[in-house]
Amino acid sequence: MRDLYIRSMCLPEPIPRENYLAKLPVVRHLADRGIEFHKQVTFFVGENGSGKSTLIEALAISQGFNPEGGTKNFCFSTENSHSELCNYLRVARGTVYPRDGFFLRAESFYNVASNIDQMDREGGGGNRVINSYGGKSLHRQSHGESFLALVENRFGGRGLYILDEPEAALSPGGIIRLMQNMDELVRNDSQFIIATHSPMLLAFPDAEVYQIREDGIASVRFQDTDHYRTTVRFLQNPESAIEDILGRERAD
Ligand SMILES: Nc1ncnc2c1ncn2[C@@H]1O[C@H](COP(=O)(O)OP(=O)(O)OP(=O)(O)O)[C@@H](O)[C@H]1O
Ligand SMILES: [Mg+2]
Repeated sequence: MRDLYIRSMCLPEPIPRENYLAKLPVVRHLADRGIEFHKQVTFFVGENGSGKSTLIEALAISQGFNPEGGTKNFCFSTENSHSELCNYLRVARGTVYPRDGFFLRAESFYNVASNIDQMDREGGGGNRVINSYGGKSLHRQSHGESFLALVENRFGGRGLYILDEPEAALSPGGIIRLMQNMDELVRNDSQFIIATHSPMLLAFPDAEVYQIREDGIASVRFQDTDHYRTTVRFLQNPESAIEDILGRERAD
C-alpha cells in the first residue's frame, strides 16, 4: 500500500473543561500529542469506559460515515447518541481516497440490518442492496453469521474499515475467519482501525496496538497488553485463577 488513508488525528482546539470528553484519557492524549497511524491495521485496546468507542466513532463521523454505522450511503438515525468529539477533531488523510468503507458500531448493527431491508422494500425493484451482503437478510441470520456475511461479501478492498468490537458476535472460529478476511483485505490496500477486547484479534500480524490507560495512550506489543496478559494468566491455570478471583476453591 503506497499510503494510508488516515495518517493521524489531533485536537487543535481545547475542549471546555466542564465537558466530560475533556477528562477522557484518549482526549487528553489527542490534545497533547495527537495519534499517528503507521500500519494498515491499528488496534485500540483498553478498559471499559476508557474512550475507545468515543474515539473511533468521532473518526468515522469525520470521514462521512453515518454515526450509527454502515457505509457512507447509510443515513438512518434511531437515536442521536454520538459525542461531539468529531466537531473538534482534525484528521490528516493520505493522498489516495479509499474506494470502499464501512463503520461498524457493535450496538447498532441491528439497525444497519433493518436499514438494508428497508432500502430494499422501498427500492423499486432495481439491484437489491442485500445482494452486496450475500443475498440473505441479515435479520434472518445469527449475529455472528450476519457479521461474517458483511465482511465476506460487502468489504471489497481498497477500503477504510472502522470497527468497534468486531469480535462481539464471534466464536473463536469466527474470529479466525475474520482474521483471514482481514489478511486478504490488507493485501488489497485496505486500512483497518479497530477497537477491541479480543486478545486473539490483537495478535494479527504487523498491526500497531495502542493501549489506553489512565495516563494516556502507548504503542505496545500485543503480548504486553493487559488484555492478553490477563487472558493468558487465566487460561494457563483456570482453577487457581478462579480461586484468586472468588477467594475460594471450586466445589467440583
Ligand atoms: N453523554 C455522556 N455524558 C457523560 N459521560 C459519557 C457520555 N457518553 C459517554 N460517557 C462516558 O465516556 C466514557 C468513554 O465511553 P466509551 O464508550 O468511549 O468507552 P469504551 O472504551 O468504548 O468502553 P467499552 O469497552 O465498554 O465499549 C465512559 O466512561 C462513559 O461513561
Ligand atoms: Mg466501546
